[in-house]
Amino acid sequence: MSQTELQGQVALVTGAGRGIGRSIALALARCGADVGLVARTVGELAVVRSHVEALGRRALVLPTDVAVEADVRVAVGDLVAHYGRLDILVNNAGFGEFGPLEHTSVAQWDRMMAVNARGAFLFCRESIPHLRARDNGRIVNIASVVGHKGYVNQAAYSASKHALVGMSKALAREVQADGIRVHVISPGGVDTGLIGDARPDLDRSVLMSPDEVAEVVVFLVTRRGNAVIDEIRMRRAASTPWD
Ligand SMILES: NC(=O)c1ccc[n+]([C@@H]2O[C@H](COP(=O)([O-])OP(=O)(O)OC[C@H]3O[C@@H](n4cnc5c(N)ncnc54)[C@H](OP(=O)(O)O)[C@@H]3O)[C@@H](O)[C@H]2O)c1
Repeated sequence: MSQTELQGQVALVTGAGRGIGRSIALALARCGADVGLVARTVGELAVVRSHVEALGRRALVLPTDVAVEADVRVAVGDLVAHYGRLDILVNNAGFGEFGPLEHTSVAQWDRMMAVNARGAFLFCRESIPHLRARDNGRIVNIASVVGHKGYVNQAAYSASKHALVGMSKALAREVQADGIRVHVISPGGVDTGLIGDARPDLDRSVLMSPDEVAEVVVFLVTRRGNAVIDEIRMRRAASTPWD
């Protein structure tokens, strides 16, 4: 991938402090983009910013709880005020608490929906006017294989990812005429802190790496021409094909 493919473009990545989002932010910076870094843990974002700057790109730390409407509005506003544009939005922030539905509290259910679904909704809503102003506005939503199927102990998490996928399908049609493309990536197990809670049964050596998800983000947002890929599902090599 060319190091200047995204030069002059600005990306906003949520959940950019660690795991998959960190890899995505760095991969976009390697392609020439400046990046806005969203999460709650400022120390982690500051480390990612230093890595982006070492690549010769600019990064803006935007401490934000993606579930809070006012915070999201401020984050997008600050980013656009700082860089003057927004080309690529990656909704990656997410979390899960895992256990039987029978023992899931309303607070747990609401929090997963608020972060994984409402957070992406809010960032899309606030970003659309800015993406519309570009030639090639791009939204990439990081869902999950559980946005399509169910796993034991993941009912609330799965519901939140189904919501994200459903929102993405409708939004893709709403903004099509504006030249904004909405993509969904649905990974299986990726080697981050989150998977240890979700699938303690899995040996970490069989997991995908965060960089492999980031490669797919770069592939999607750098595509030009008439072919559009709505969704990419990614699975561990050892998992069942077409499951
Ligand atoms: N790991 C997997 O196997 C896997 C598979 C499929 C899909 N995914 C999805 O991939 C995305 C990234 O997950 P990951 O595995 O990289 O997890 P991770 O390592 O735990 O990173 C999650 C990131 O999201 C941020 N975040 C969480 N809640 C937030 C909130 N309320 N506001 C702002 N930022 C928030 C975290 O920062 P703070 O805590 O500092 O806010 C962190 O930067 C999630 O949407 C997850 O559902 C993961």
